[in-house]
Order: sequence, then structure tokens, then C-alpha cells
Amino acid sequence: MAETELSTEFPKPDGITRWTEVMVSFTAKLGAQGRRVVLVTSGGTKVPLEARAVRFLDNFSSGRRGATSAEAFLAAGYGVLFLYRSRSAFPFAHRFPPQTWLSALRPSGPAQSGRLCLEADEKALPGFAAALQSYQDAAAAGTFLAVEFTTLTEYLHLLQAAAQALNPLGPSAMFYLAAAVSDFYVPVSEMPQHKIPSSGGPLQITMKMVPKMLSPLVKDWAPKAFIISFKLETDPSIVIDRARNALEVYRHQVVVANILESKQSFVVIVTKDSETKLLLSEEEVEKGIEIEEKIVDNLQSQHTAFICDKN
Ligand code: PMT
Repeated sequence: MAETELSTEFPKPDGITRWTEVMVSFTAKLGAQGRRVVLVTSGGTKVPLEARAVRFLDNFSSGRRGATSAEAFLAAGYGVLFLYRSRSAFPFAHRFPPQTWLSALRPSGPAQSGRLCLEADEKALPGFAAALQSYQDAAAAGTFLAVEFTTLTEYLHLLQAAAQALNPLGPSAMFYLAAAVSDFYVPVSEMPQHKIPSSGGPLQITMKMVPKMLSPLVKDWAPKAFIISFKLETDPSIVIDRARNALEVYRHQVVVANILESKQSFVVIVTKDSETKLLLSEEEVEKGIEIEEKIVDNLQSQHTAFICDKN
């Protein structure tokens, strides 16, 4: 799908040119250092039902998969471009919702020379100092860039812009498409201007299918990159077939298959000629190990083999 084609159905959001520049310069700098870069998409897209939108179609995605995976990719030495739904889980912060630190952090004295003095009982915020340190290390090294989306339209344009930024890295670029993107939308031309009145009785709307971006991504936007899509189902008996079907249709490298109820502890990594089950044992859960560490470990090895094969 060409840029003009995308813009016809989904008008360009404000600020897209500026974000494209920021992403291009982020990836070019890391590419010049010989670093691999991964685009992690995360969270769900929001679809407005009205032009002056009061109501939206949204989905369940919390962004936890993307946020935890971004941390694992940074630990593995990747540069991470994190394209995430505004206010969804954020790397290094998502384990600490406000109610944890609002009660644990206390002023330890008056501010001195503009410096805020805070203290906390270490046991009240386990892992907090380490998370802060990891985030600040990534920020100082320039290996992490977060870009926000809310609506489907913003997501689609930012994905295309991110692909433009990562494409020059060839096989060293990875796309890790964990976002839950809406399959349906109301075209701008068919949207009511104002709030749909409830006085009209039950609502009937017809939504159009959103084009799957995997197709232009694999064929045109970043044809040399290592591309991973996700497949979520609620029926375990169909998920592997759906994952295989996606590999056949789009011809990318990997699908991570997961089931809604078990997505935190079990996934299957599906490729053209393999199926690898990744499972967290109870012991691993107790130790605080997360399934994303195993997913990223597996994909990193596959990415290394992919790069060797292309060189
Ligand atoms: O965020 P969490 O709560 O932690 O949950 C994580 C998750 C369950 C959302 C994640 O693990 C996951 O499975 N994400 C993909 C959900 C899905 O099944 O998407 P899909 O079947 O609609 O799309 C398949 C793939 O194509 C996805 O990688 C998607 O990013 C991509 N896609 C989808 C639509 C579209 N128009 N263009 C796309 O490229």
C-alpha cells in the first residue's frame, strides 16, 4: 500500500512528518553503531464511531506483552523503537502503578537547591530502583525511543513511518508486531459528524475491513527485515492453523501464537518448518521470570541465523 493510498482512507495525522524524522534519525544512529533495531508495537488501537468522537471501538490489549518484550530486547542489546498505545503498559514502569509508589515514596526532607528528596522502604517497592536504572541507562545510551498512538489511523501511519526508518538496516531490523490492531473501522466519509443520538433506538453500523499492514510491510516497506507477527485466538484448536495460514499468505518469518487465557504463560513460536512451545513452569513464575524473556531469547537466536543467511 503506497503512502498516498493509505492517506486516502486514513487521513494523515498531525505531527507525522516530525515523528518520521525522529524515527529515521534514531535508527540511523543505531545502525551506524552496528546495532540491531527492533520495532515493538504494543497495545490496542481505538476506532472512532463519530467525527467529533464521543464513542469508540476498542479492545482488551493492556500493552504488557509489548512493554515486557521491549525490556528484554534492550537487555539483549537491541535498539528499541516502542510504538505503543497511549497510557498502556510502558517498559520499566508498568509493574509500578501509582497506588504502589504513592504510598511507598515519602518526602525525606525539604527540597534542597531544586533537588527533590524522596525515600522508600526497599521492601515496599521491590525492583523499583533497578527498573529506574535500566530505563535511565537505555535513555543515556540512546537505545530506546517511545512513540505514542491512540487511534487506528495514527497507528497505521506511524507503522509505515517506522518501516521507512528501519528499512535501511536491512536484515538487522526486526519487526515485533504485538499490537492488537482493529480489523474494522468507519471511513471518514461515512462517519456521522456529531454524537449518534440514542433517541434513534438500537444502533446499527456497518464497518469496513482494515487492510492488513503485514502485506505492504513484507512486500514493499521493509522487504529485507526479520518480521514477527502475533496471532491471538480464544479457541486453542484453531490458533496454529491460523498462524500457519498467516505465514503462507504474508510470507514473513515468524508468528507467535497465543491464547487469551494463557497468554502470560504459554505461546507457540511458529515458522515455516518448526513449532516451538514456550511454557513457564510454576517455579519460573515464582522466580518472577516472564514468558517474554523466553520469546525474545528464541527470536534473537533466529534473528542471528537470519542475518548470517542474508550475508
Ligand atoms: O497487550 P497484552 O494484553 O499483553 O496482550 C498481548 C496480545 C495478546 C495483544 C499479543 O500477544 C497479540 O497476540 N497481538 C496480536 C493480536 C492479533 O491476533 O492480531 P490480528 O490477528 O488482528 O493480527 C495479526 C497480526 O497482524 C498482528 O501481529 C498485528 O499486529 C498485525 N496487523 C493486524 C491488523 C492490521 N490491519 N495490520 C496488521 O499488521
